[in-house]
Amino acid sequence: MNDAVRLVEVGARDGLQNEARTLAPAVRAELIGRLVEAGLRHIEAGAFVSPRWVPQMADTDQVLARLPKRADVTYSVLVPNERGVTAALAAGASEVAVFTAASEAFNQRNINCSIAESLARFEPVLQQAKAQSVPVRGYVSCVLGCPYQGHVPVEQVVRTASALARLGCHEISLGDTIGAGVPSAVRELLAACATALPLERLAVHFHDTRGMAVANCLAALEQGVRVFDSSVSGLGGCPYSPGATGNVASEELVYLFEGLGLNTGVDLDRLVAAGAFVDGHLGRATQSRVARAHHAN
Ligand code: HMG
Ligand code: MG
Repeated sequence: MNDAVRLVEVGARDGLQNEARTLAPAVRAELIGRLVEAGLRHIEAGAFVSPRWVPQMADTDQVLARLPKRADVTYSVLVPNERGVTAALAAGASEVAVFTAASEAFNQRNINCSIAESLARFEPVLQQAKAQSVPVRGYVSCVLGCPYQGHVPVEQVVRTASALARLGCHEISLGDTIGAGVPSAVRELLAACATALPLERLAVHFHDTRGMAVANCLAALEQGVRVFDSSVSGLGGCPYSPGATGNVASEELVYLFEGLGLNTGVDLDRLVAAGAFVDGHLGRATQSRVARAHHAN
């Protein structure tokens, strides 16, 4: 097994977009600064989406403006369309991420268009980003089930992920938006995706709605995946996925991977402290069991 894994910290975007309390840009930037201090090097800093749809992500440009400028850290932001990428590039994002789904029903509710329409919208996004040598990540939601249509055929996930790769996304993150999967389903999904795409271009993005996310990450690791999306303190959910809870907690993955002898580059003490910082601002209790155990000891 390779001895390094990469965590993509999505708490400041996927986490905060679903919290009832909207945090000021200065607090979001402070959180991200603390995550950088903890050793995270790939961080989603926000989203350039409609503030009517997701008010928690408003003023992402002001978050980016406050971040420590570091060549070794990638600050990524979500963009749904051309307008989003223009704003993201002007604000200095070092990566942008486009997002679609393997479920038509989910896509309609999340971005108000079909899968095909979303892919067409992404073409100018990719062109703009490439012109400025900014890499583009691609998300596929509902890879293991959809809150609106239920079962999602694995072939649809492969088709959508392949389409994003053909558009030029350097990495495709497979989202179990509603935390429906179990390890056997993860193995089947990754085996199918690996017939169309190199595994090195795949990341997994598992929500922990049913407590399966750690097991699912381990299954993905054993299948060869080395890039994992996670949220500090298990923040998060998705505003267009009723009942969805946060991503797998970053603390859980650091504990798991370091325990397996893999290098995450993350300092667990500092990560737990960053989680306590944001939880204090949100008035919530941590969803990370590792953080809870850390506080107790
Ligand atoms: P629309 O209504 O079809 O499009 O929304 P529109 O062009 O008519 O625009 C609607 C409004 O948004 C207009 O303003 C536009 O100006 C504005 P209004 O007239 O209402 O004042 N607008 C924008 N504002 C700021 N930045 C922009 C932008 N574009 C338009 N880039 C749209 C289409 C995509 C804009 C809308 O549906 C939207 O913003 N959706 C956001 C969805 C979202 O952020 N969802 C959460 C992230 S995805 C996720 O969490 C899943 C993931 O974690 C993986 C997983 O877990 O599966 C990634
Ligand atoms: Mg998500």
